[in-house]
Amino acid sequence: MRGLAAGNWKMNGTGESLSEIKALLDAAPSPECDILICPPATLLSRMAALAEGTVLKIGGQDCHAAGSGAHTGDISAAMLVDAGASHVILGHSERRANHGETDAQVAEKITAAQAAGLTTILCVGETEAERDAGRALEVIGGQIDSSLPDDVDAARLVVAYEPVWAIGTGRTPTPDQISEVHDALRARLSDRLGTGQIRLLYGGSVKPSNAAEIFALHNVNGALVGGASLKADDFAGIIAALEAAS
Ligand code: PGA
Repeated sequence: MRGLAAGNWKMNGTGESLSEIKALLDAAPSPECDILICPPATLLSRMAALAEGTVLKIGGQDCHAAGSGAHTGDISAAMLVDAGASHVILGHSERRANHGETDAQVAEKITAAQAAGLTTILCVGETEAERDAGRALEVIGGQIDSSLPDDVDAARLVVAYEPVWAIGTGRTPTPDQISEVHDALRARLSDRLGTGQIRLLYGGSVKPSNAAEIFALHNVNGALVGGASLKADDFAGIIAALEAAS
């Protein structure tokens, strides 16, 4: 399976930050993996213009389930497509925590995003308390069951395992812990969707120095990277590790 290095810029970046994209394209002009950056909505069109004709794909960080209407501050899947996006992250733990997003809402968003032609990156992951209580696999399995709509198009689905306690903390699970979750995800998705071809990303404090160890794991097909995607050098190092692992 071809790897995917996906960057999530979160609420970071203004026009000045586009220089990092130029540097990234210089550093990794034709990588042996797919690369995606999900900038804040204000940068989507400008980044998409830079990415045109290159290997870089652009994505949104969220979308509304409705196509249009009275939803102040929200953005629809069709708007993301219009701005040049091919992907969208849905159900990120920061959306779930800061905006109270439920599995059911995430499922509606996946349906809407896929109908608009976007590839959806569904995020799942346990909190530290849930892991300590021995409930990580149960929580993640529940999120998969309830966040995936029945009509999901497996060909437009990527799943990212992002333990909440590893995001932005510099802490990562052990390789065994990542493998346990990714193997369970693979089995559950194969059961539900009848395919073993869904790309599974790991996310949470991925950096150039730990990327090779993570990408060496079976059933890890790439990464969803926050902080280390903001700097071209760091993200290029992660891309290089993913290329070396494939
Ligand atoms: P991080 O974020 O790489 O900064 O830990 C990952 C994410 O939230 O996608």
